[in-house]
Amino acid sequence: MKTKVLIIGACGQIGTELTHKLRDIYGIDNVVASDIRKLNNDVVNNGIFEVINALDYNQIEHLIEQYQITDVYLMAALLSATAEKNPAFAWDLNMNSLFHVLNLAKAGKIKKIFWPSSIAVFGPTTPRINTPQYTIMEPTTVYGISKQTGERWCEYYNKQYGVDVRSIRYPGLISWTTEPGGGTTDYAVDIYHKALSDGAFECFLSEDTALPMMYMDDAIRATIEIMQADEDKIKIRSSYNLSGVSFTPKEIATEIKKHIPDFTITYKPDFRQKIADSWPASIDDSNAREDWQWKHQFDLASMTIEMLENLK
Ligand code: SER
Repeated sequence: MKTKVLIIGACGQIGTELTHKLRDIYGIDNVVASDIRKLNNDVVNNGIFEVINALDYNQIEHLIEQYQITDVYLMAALLSATAEKNPAFAWDLNMNSLFHVLNLAKAGKIKKIFWPSSIAVFGPTTPRINTPQYTIMEPTTVYGISKQTGERWCEYYNKQYGVDVRSIRYPGLISWTTEPGGGTTDYAVDIYHKALSDGAFECFLSEDTALPMMYMDDAIRATIEIMQADEDKIKIRSSYNLSGVSFTPKEIATEIKKHIPDFTITYKPDFRQKIADSWPASIDDSNAREDWQWKHQFDLASMTIEMLENLK
């Protein structure tokens, strides 16, 4: 059966690059990008684009029938920092959009779902270094609670109804095409922009706050690899740990200085420090490496070269 893709949240930081890649792989006519607004020219003008609300079941169902969609990538979400400011809406968006897609799969209207989870599913009682796949999970953010709950529902729909849902716990994602919005790891993108524009950056996390991170090219490749893997290889139906690099604000600043020697960084931690302190510093992703042969490519040095070259 021919793969026909729907991306919900196609104009966001991950959605824009995912849409581009999926159009390359499956062809312009087999990929439907959608978002609540027309926020990105490349996504809107270079293929099929539809305005939809991820909270509107009927709209999603209609699109799926109209384009005979087989695979849905649900990328619409409120991230950690924004979710703390608007908990009720974050819960509504992050949970109910997922239920809509899971229920459409349960009803046999789509074949496969990709849903992103996050390192935010972990909490302050989780072992912080090389956090295992299976461990204590007591998230303290609204975003983390929604992702943890979502994981449980994904697993439930898979076990009870045979829904083929696949998921990755993304670390902080670093990219240059579309800026992130509302995350705690966003400083690691902003720092490159400010290094080039101002030669200086004020960081909202303290210098030694280590967090798991990944270059977007790796994240997109992981997403496509898990979706293209044979169904029996995907043994974990909650969400897979995924690891790229891990660094502190001080370490990324040191790396940038190798290219921009006058670059300076100052630290002014805000409410996001507490969120970062509750998350892992590094992740053990051996299950992903064993089950579907995941392997990251970018480290801090190669990512920094790519970021600075492309943002120039
Ligand atoms: N990058 C996300 C955030 O900071 C984590 O999934 O909210």
